[in-house]
Amino acid sequence: MKVENNKIIKIIEAGRFTPTGSNQQDVSFTVVKDKISEFRELILKNLNEKGKSILSNLGPETMQFKKYAEMWTQMYQEYQNESVHNDRLFFEAPLVIVVSANSIVNGSLASSNMELMANALDLGVLFSGFTLRGAKDKEEVREFLNIKKNKEIVTALVIGYPDVKYSRTVPRKEADISWN
Ligand SMILES: Cc1cc2nc3c(=O)[nH]c(=O)nc-3n(C[C@H](O)[C@H](O)[C@H](O)COP(=O)(O)O)c2cc1C
Repeated sequence: MKVENNKIIKIIEAGRFTPTGSNQQDVSFTVVKDKISEFRELILKNLNEKGKSILSNLGPETMQFKKYAEMWTQMYQEYQNESVHNDRLFFEAPLVIVVSANSIVNGSLASSNMELMANALDLGVLFSGFTLRGAKDKEEVREFLNIKKNKEIVTALVIGYPDVKYSRTVPRKEADISWN
């Protein structure tokens, strides 16, 4: 199910009104909706390249990424094999909002408020680290997303109506607190 434009605007407003350091107001938003298939293909292609490069140079330093490298190459194979419908990048969501900023802190704070607004509008949000990986150092992706010079892609928010509803929250580790 598509996400209504008025909800997209409310989510962006939550980002826009988030405070920024020195009041820079440096956060930008790219709404990927109509071209989401192209975006998926571009990111999967880049992840496949990165995955293959990691797998062909496995050593003590890259071993920790082996699991992801295998996952990325498999995701691309599945994407190319049209009979396998398993969207492990965007999970069939109809919308991605890419947040870019001069300051990673400003972009992250805005993104977090955007998530809360999306949740309040009955939408689910996935912060997609894979998308950031597939975008990193890729001019083609920056151009596709119209990222301004000097801005960094900070988050990719994958947004849609969830298929499932959870009746309780997830377990988490105890808080790591020091009382001084
Ligand atoms: C910054 C960030 C990046 C993430 N990237 C991905 C991703 O690329 N793919 C994915 O399937 N999940 C991704 N996740 C989801 C996390 O794996 C998930 O939030 C975590 O395992 C906790 O699960 P929960 O959100 O269900 O509590 C990401 C989460 C965060 C906060």
